[in-house]
Amino acid sequence: MKTAIYPGSFDPVTYGHLDIIERSAKLAEVLYVGILRNNSKKPLFSVEERIEMLEHETAHLPNVKVITFDGLLVDFARSVNAQVLVRGLRAVTDFEYELQMSQTNRKIAPEVDTIFLTTNLKYAYLSSSIVKEVAFYQGDISAFVPPYVAEKIHQKMG
Ligand code: PNS
Repeated sequence: MKTAIYPGSFDPVTYGHLDIIERSAKLAEVLYVGILRNNSKKPLFSVEERIEMLEHETAHLPNVKVITFDGLLVDFARSVNAQVLVRGLRAVTDFEYELQMSQTNRKIAPEVDTIFLTTNLKYAYLSSSIVKEVAFYQGDISAFVPPYVAEKIHQKMG
């Protein structure tokens, strides 16, 4: 696996994402963490803030590059010569959407393949939305995100 992309919204990055990043960085020569810019969801963090948090949390991984993209994921993959898309699978509920996405991507760009890493069981329940919801009600998010990210969430939510 030469060049891989791990795409997502990362609003914000969680321990679940970081687990997938660490593991895929061992499989790929270069791993692009791709943040989607033109997302229809209304994000809590700007793209620049998400880049900054991801760069902070992946600084110890020399072959990981944080980058943003617009439009189709497979066009982004082609533009950086990536052969592989990485997605994390938490539970069977993720499967249907992920299967549909990977099959569509493969139809559009047969030269780009998707591989799935099963999320570490420790983080199988975790999502950025759940973290934001717990933080919104002043719950403890220290088990879900690194301290630096937790601080940013608290600042954002006042
Ligand atoms: O973290 P997310 O929100 O589950 O990530 C979804 C993402 C960014 C991977 C997906 O929405 C995506 O690839 N969007 C770009 C547009 C595209 O290529 N759509 C897929 C065609 S099936």
